Amino acid sequence: MVAMANASPRITAAQAARFDAMMLRLEHRFFAGTRNWICGRASGDVLEIAVGTGLNLPHYPDAVRLTGVDLNPELLEFARRRASMIGREIELFEADAMALPFPDESFDSVVCTFALCEVPDDAFAIGEALRVLRPGGSLLLADHVVATNLLVRAGQRVLESVTIRVSGEHFTRRPSVHLDAQGAKVVAGDRLTYGAVERVHARKLI
Ligand SMILES: C[S@@+](CC[C@H](N)C(=O)[O-])C[C@H]1O[C@@H](n2cnc3c(N)ncnc32)[C@H](O)[C@@H]1O
Repeated sequence: MVAMANASPRITAAQAARFDAMMLRLEHRFFAGTRNWICGRASGDVLEIAVGTGLNLPHYPDAVRLTGVDLNPELLEFARRRASMIGREIELFEADAMALPFPDESFDSVVCTFALCEVPDDAFAIGEALRVLRPGGSLLLADHVVATNLLVRAGQRVLESVTIRVSGEHFTRRPSVHLDAQGAKVVAGDRLTYGAVERVHARKLI
């Protein structure tokens, strides 16, 4: 969505708060209902990659056991406070989506929302997510992607000619195209907002 400068892990608490407020405004406008759609499909041991300020936390079913990672310690701290405020248990770790510190097949569900747009290599990060997912488990992704609407797509190309350089943010990716080749099958999905937002539920093949 809106990337931290070069996905830099060092931001201040005030910046984390501003970031949280901005994400809330964006989602009301462009992807309402997406967090429920994604988190409602998670079950069992759940890893959320790039958990940010924990905006997904209120949307998970009560029964899931949550682990979250993010590159950014201030955002993790924000997520920790949010979890405590809403009485949600979660284990949080500073970690890179490109090198997850978990053994193979550790989780029943892996969630990643609005972050594959800013990892250096989305296909590689999907491979990591699938590595730590148990066979048959759910990979749940939501992100802004290359739009189906041609006008919006042209705007995205212009925008990312700046944002990739300045903040590592991509606007014309579509992470779901990497799923098949990496052994995951899409079982549900849709696109919103001129096709510029995609949410996907895939299962790791057994
Ligand atoms: C736009 S925010 C989205 C946060 C959260 N997933 C959400 O849906 O609100 C992108 C997040 O990705 C994190 N991030 C970016 N690159 C990362 C990486 N390589 N590994 C882990 N987290 C990363 C950032 O620190 C930030 O928290």
